[in-house]
Amino acid sequence: MSNITAAITAVGGYVPDYVMTNKELETMVDTNDEWIRSRTGIEERRILKEEGAGTSFMAIKAGNEIIEKSGIDAKDIDLVIVTTATPDMNVASTASHVATQIGAVNAFGYDISAACSGFVYGLSTGSAFIESGKYKKVIVIGADKMSSIVDYTDRNTCIIFGDGAGGVLLEPNTEGYGLQDEYLRSDSVGREFLNMEAGGSLLPPSHETVDNRQHFIRQDGRTVFKYAVSKMTEAATIIAERNDLNSDNITWLAAHQANKRIINAISSRLNLKDEQVMMNIEKYGNTTNGTIPLLLWDYEEKLKKGDKIIIAAFGGGFTWGSQYLTWAY
Ligand code: UT7
Repeated sequence: MSNITAAITAVGGYVPDYVMTNKELETMVDTNDEWIRSRTGIEERRILKEEGAGTSFMAIKAGNEIIEKSGIDAKDIDLVIVTTATPDMNVASTASHVATQIGAVNAFGYDISAACSGFVYGLSTGSAFIESGKYKKVIVIGADKMSSIVDYTDRNTCIIFGDGAGGVLLEPNTEGYGLQDEYLRSDSVGREFLNMEAGGSLLPPSHETVDNRQHFIRQDGRTVFKYAVSKMTEAATIIAERNDLNSDNITWLAAHQANKRIINAISSRLNLKDEQVMMNIEKYGNTTNGTIPLLLWDYEEKLKKGDKIIIAAFGGGFTWGSQYLTWAY
C-alpha cells in the first residue's frame, strides 16, 4: 500500500491596500488605540474598498500567487476549496468562481463554512483527497471580507475584524512530510454567542431584519474568549501529547489570530517562547478564514523543510481544532 501524505507545496496571500487604524476606529465608536492594543494586540487591519469586489476578489489574488510561485499549470489543478464566512453570494459557490478565474478549468470547486475554523477543516478535507490517491493538486483558500458583515457602530466586533485571503497548494508527498495528525470538533452550544442572526433560512431577510441590524456579526466576546482559550488549548495539547511534541521540538505554533491574549494563553500552556509563535494580528486583525494561511504566507521565508508546526483554530458554531504538520520545502 502506498503511503501518501498531503504536503503544502506553495502558499499565496492577499490583503487589501486600505489600512484601517485604531485611530480611525476611535472616530467611529467609543474606543481607543490603547484599549485595542492592550486587550487584543491589534494595531491596524486591512479593508477591501474596491467597488463591486467580494471575497472572491481576494481569493483569486491568493490563488494566482499560488500558481505563479509553484509554477504549476492551472489546468492540472483538481480541486479548489474556498473556506469562508462571507461568500460572494448565497447559493452560487465562491470556489467555483475562484477556480474559473484562476484558470483551473479542469477542477471542481466548493465552499466550506465553519467560521474561523474553516481553513483547518478545509486543510483536513483537501488533505484527505490527496491521501486517497485520487487527486494530485488541491488548492485550499481561506478568505473573508469581514467588513461586509461588520457593524461599524458595534465596538465588540468592529475593532477585531479585517479583510484578507490566504491559501495553500496541497500535493502528494512520499517522504512523509505534510499533515500528520488532527483533532477537530464542533459543538452548537456556541451558536448563540457568535453569529449573524438573519439572512439564512432560519430568519430570511426582511425590512424588519434590516431595521434591527440583524445582518451583522454579533458576539458575546467574553464567553467566546473563554471557550476559545479552553478549546484551542485542549486541542493543541492533545495533538502535542499524542505526537511527542513539546517546547523543545515544536518549531512553530500557527494559531488563529482572534486575540493576542488567546494566542499567548495557548503558547504558554505549551511552554513556547515568543520566537516559536507566529503572530501577525497586529497588522491584519482577525481575518476569520484568512488568519492561518496568512500566517504561513508571512512566515514562509523563515520556514524550513522538516519544521514541526502546530495549527489551532476556534470559531463560530462553535467549531475548533488543531493539526500537526511538517513543512515540506
Ligand atoms: O475569531 C472567532 C472568535 N472570536 C474571538 O475569539 C474573540 C474573543 N473575544 C475577545 O477577543 C474579547 O472578548 C474582546 C476583544 C471582544 C473584548 O475584550 P474583553 O477583554 O473580553 O472585554 P470585555 O467585553 O470583558 O469588556 C471589558 C471592559 C468593559 O468595560 P467595564 O465594564 O469593565 O467598565 C467594556 O465595556 O472594556 C470595555 N470595552 C471596550 N472599551 C473600549 C469593551 N469593548 C471595548 C472597546 N473599546 N472596543
